[in-house]
Amino acid sequence: MPPTGTRGSAPVGGQGTMLPVTATATSAPQAGDVLELTVGEVVHGGWCVSRQDDTGLAVFVRHALPGERVRATVTQTTARLVRADATEVLQQSADRVTPPCRYAGPGRCGGCDWQHASLDAQRRLKAAVIRQQLNRIAGFDHPVKVDPIVGNDGGLGWRTVVSFAVDAAGTAGLRRHRSHDVVGISHCRIAHDLVTGADVTAKRWPGAQSVEVAVVPQTEEVGVLVTGRPAGLPDVAAASVQISGKSGARIPVRGRGYLTQRAAGRDWRVSLGGFWQVHPGAADVLGKDVLTELSPRPGDVALDLYCGAGLFAGLLAEAVGAEGRVLAVEENLTAVRDARHNLRDWPWARVHRGDVADVLRRLGIRGASIAVVDPPRTGVARQAIDVLCDPAARLRRLAYVSCDPATLARDLRLLLDGGWQLTGLRGYDAFPMTHHVECLATLTRP
Ligand SMILES: C[S@@+](CC[C@H](N)C(=O)[O-])C[C@H]1O[C@@H](n2cnc3c(N)ncnc32)[C@H](O)[C@@H]1O
Repeated sequence: MPPTGTRGSAPVGGQGTMLPVTATATSAPQAGDVLELTVGEVVHGGWCVSRQDDTGLAVFVRHALPGERVRATVTQTTARLVRADATEVLQQSADRVTPPCRYAGPGRCGGCDWQHASLDAQRRLKAAVIRQQLNRIAGFDHPVKVDPIVGNDGGLGWRTVVSFAVDAAGTAGLRRHRSHDVVGISHCRIAHDLVTGADVTAKRWPGAQSVEVAVVPQTEEVGVLVTGRPAGLPDVAAASVQISGKSGARIPVRGRGYLTQRAAGRDWRVSLGGFWQVHPGAADVLGKDVLTELSPRPGDVALDLYCGAGLFAGLLAEAVGAEGRVLAVEENLTAVRDARHNLRDWPWARVHRGDVADVLRRLGIRGASIAVVDPPRTGVARQAIDVLCDPAARLRRLAYVSCDPATLARDLRLLLDGGWQLTGLRGYDAFPMTHHVECLATLTRP
């Protein structure tokens, strides 16, 4: 990679230093070296890959966009790959914009990946990643589009849950990319205004490990969950404050310890630290689309696996009515308690506590004909997939909600091999500015 001159170059992130190219074609790059690269396709995790014809090296570049010519500073080398940050753009993509956040950029906050891309481009990049994962891992191609979630056109101010890390000095901030370092910030641009209003980063939290702020825009509720061993807590503008000890036991400091979320025209109790979609419009849209895809009828038996606070189970319970049944499974005790509370109006919906694979092995699927699965990033356990593919089962329609295209692709391969057919796949831009994306895959079995 011979050094070349810069052609109208601009530093990435609005600041940064112009560095001379320091690696050559013959030397293996080291951290701190500067490479001049043409950036290729986007890959999972907020990277673009630059494959070097001369050395066969794959360089994973952040803060770049496909087609750009950049100078990139190497941040890490391993036996298999090189990671680098684009620090200077020599030829820029038409999709590039100035990052709205001053903490975004090489060596800064690791919370966002695509602040330098237009929102439309971010969605195209996410769709490309989903499609690529399907091709590489599941071995088939399928068109997919990633749509915005209505009500958030600018991609900022949407995040209703932010987990701030706390450094040794007690400062709450966000982690630098692939680092334990905490970047002090005064304002996270993707956080909801109510999160910003709690003003957590202006306070000191000595002894704490993390401070998670969760808010409900519809009711303006604010909750704070502190982990670690805080030596006293600063005053913070939140109705609910709790400390979570090492064992997970909760020490109430103030308020009820849960938030009342609104979705599908109902209230849902969600304890601090419990799972709820972080985009304010996501629970509504996913609830609606899952119901449309599963088309539950009165009398149906439905499964909600990895049910969290019971959102899908509640919607299914209402649809199948008292002649039907819903079997929901969740392993986290606090979430199980929330789900049981949220489902109290539908006694035909039962929440089983435990690992999904264990519960299915123990109970079977109890004559269910429709199911929704919404696993964590690790995807659905192999044993649970085997149960869902059991040819003797009556299951006919399956909605798979996923926040990780790689494990979704792995599981779709297994489901297709097990007799399911993919009938629909869509993406939701539930995490603008980051590489994260929510997917809904729908499957049927003849
Ligand atoms: C992505 S959340 C989905 C929650 C819910 N469907 C919703 O939309 O609010 C995944 C849930 O799965 C639970 N979970 C993770 N691993 C599990 C397992 N092996 N067995 C049962 N539940 C699990 C987590 O506690 C979490 O509540």
